Amino acid sequence: MTDEIYDLGAGFWSIRGSFIKNGILDIGVQCALIKLPSGRFIFLDSYTLKDDVHQQVMALTNDGQDVEAVLNVHPFHTVHCAQMAKDFPQATFYGSSRHPEQVPEVNWADDLVESDSVAARYPELKFSLPQGIHYISPDETVHASSLLVYHPASQSIYVDDTFEIPPSKRFNAVQPNLGLHPTTKKALKDDANAGKEYCDWAIELAHEWRSGRHFCGAHSGLVVFEEGKFEAALLLVIDSARNELESK
Ligand SMILES: [Fe+2]
Repeated sequence: MTDEIYDLGAGFWSIRGSFIKNGILDIGVQCALIKLPSGRFIFLDSYTLKDDVHQQVMALTNDGQDVEAVLNVHPFHTVHCAQMAKDFPQATFYGSSRHPEQVPEVNWADDLVESDSVAARYPELKFSLPQGIHYISPDETVHASSLLVYHPASQSIYVDDTFEIPPSKRFNAVQPNLGLHPTTKKALKDDANAGKEYCDWAIELAHEWRSGRHFCGAHSGLVVFEEGKFEAALLLVIDSARNELESK
């Protein structure tokens, strides 16, 4: 898969890259570049930028000098952090508490990426952490959670693994279907209310981020929803998953 950069407008660029799973299948991966009102830039997630995409990012960001921070929003997406820190040495690196354990060579900020202080620093973004499921699961194969980010100016919803769009449903722009990460049930906290908390969180998110149109999924690619259809798709998937999630 060739890396691609998509200008979604209002200072948001979605960058699609490769991630080869188990040595065979390229399931893709993402990062995003955002221009702040100050004229400076941040990245969501780390990726080793190459070739044309690298050139375009460097042209936009004054050779990388204007990138002030990298917000690594998935506790288990860590493979590109060390290279990203070499490529943007002046940027502040935010991550979960798992990031410094996995990539100790990066000079991580004390503030965690999901903290209120990081959210306050970037008021042009909305952040949401799923409720009822482990953000950092004790089971390392469970990747259902991540910090979700919304950029209202470009109507871009940035979701690493929590929601995904099955390949067969990606090209129906009228009504793309949304799915939950396959490990969502496994990620539930050991609490009788966990399933309900998760579903209630997702429903509130669907309403609050209803104006979102560009769905940037780590392994689903970039999918464009018509106005209001993201909300409808998320409500639908929660409606069908609620019984199973609440029965744990
Ligand atoms: Fe992932």
